[in-house]
Amino acid sequence: MARVAPSILSADFAALGDAVDAVAREADLLHVDVMDGHFVPNLSIGPPVVASLRRHTTLYLDCHLMITNPEDYLESFRRAGADGCTVHVEVGDTRARIEQMRSLGLDAGLAVNPETPFETYAEWLDQIDMVLLMTVHPGFGGQSFLSEVVPKISRTRQEIDRRGLDVAIEVDGGIDVRTAPLTAAAGASVFVAGSAIFGQADPAAAAHAIRHAADEAERASEEGGR
Ligand code: DX5
Ligand code: ZN
Repeated sequence: MARVAPSILSADFAALGDAVDAVAREADLLHVDVMDGHFVPNLSIGPPVVASLRRHTTLYLDCHLMITNPEDYLESFRRAGADGCTVHVEVGDTRARIEQMRSLGLDAGLAVNPETPFETYAEWLDQIDMVLLMTVHPGFGGQSFLSEVVPKISRTRQEIDRRGLDVAIEVDGGIDVRTAPLTAAAGASVFVAGSAIFGQADPAAAAHAIRHAADEAERASEEGGR
C-alpha cells in the first residue's frame, strides 16, 4: 500500500496549521523539508516549526534534513517532536549519524541525491528504516521529475527484497499522479509531494489521487512481475 507524504514546503507558511488540517485525512506522513543554505542553495525551516507542528497534529513528522551538519541538530529535531529524520548520505559520517538517530529514538532514514550511485548507500540498507531517493536536485519545490532515477529505484527495491529487509523507499521531487505510478512500479512505497498537493484547490483530493495512482501501478507491476 502506497503512503503519501505531503511536503509542507509548498504550503502557505502563514497558515501552516490550516494547510495541515486540509490534507490530514489523506496524509500518512507529513514531510518537513529542512534546508541550511549550504548543503542546498536555499533556506527553509527548523526545529521551532517542527515543535509547532507537533502541538498541532498527531501525524508522523518526517524530517528531511538537507543540511551539512545534521549531527548538530538531530537532538533538537527529536526534542521538537520529529518521528523520523533522513540525513543525506552525501554529507558523510553515515554510520555515526545512523547510530545517533537510533540512540535518540528517531526512525532513521538516508536521503540520496539523483546523481549519487546505488553503491554509496547499499551497505546501510540493513540499518535504516527508510531510504529517500531524490527525484529532483534538492533545494526547491516545483521542479520536474528526473526519470533517470527510476532504474536506481528498481535496483534498490530488488536489493531490499533480495535481503528480506523492511526498508521503505521514499521518492521526493516532481511526484504527481503521472510520475507516482512510474516510481511505484519500480518499487517506491512512500510518495512525497509538495506542489502537486498544496498547489491544488483540494489538497486532500490531490493526495488521494496520488495514492490511488501509485497503488494501481504497484498492483499492475506485481501482476505482470517486475
Ligand atoms: C526538494 C524537497 C521536496 C519538495 C518537493 O528539495 O526535498 O520535498 O518539497 O516538492 P515538489 O513535490 O513540488 O517537487
Ligand atoms: Zn524533501
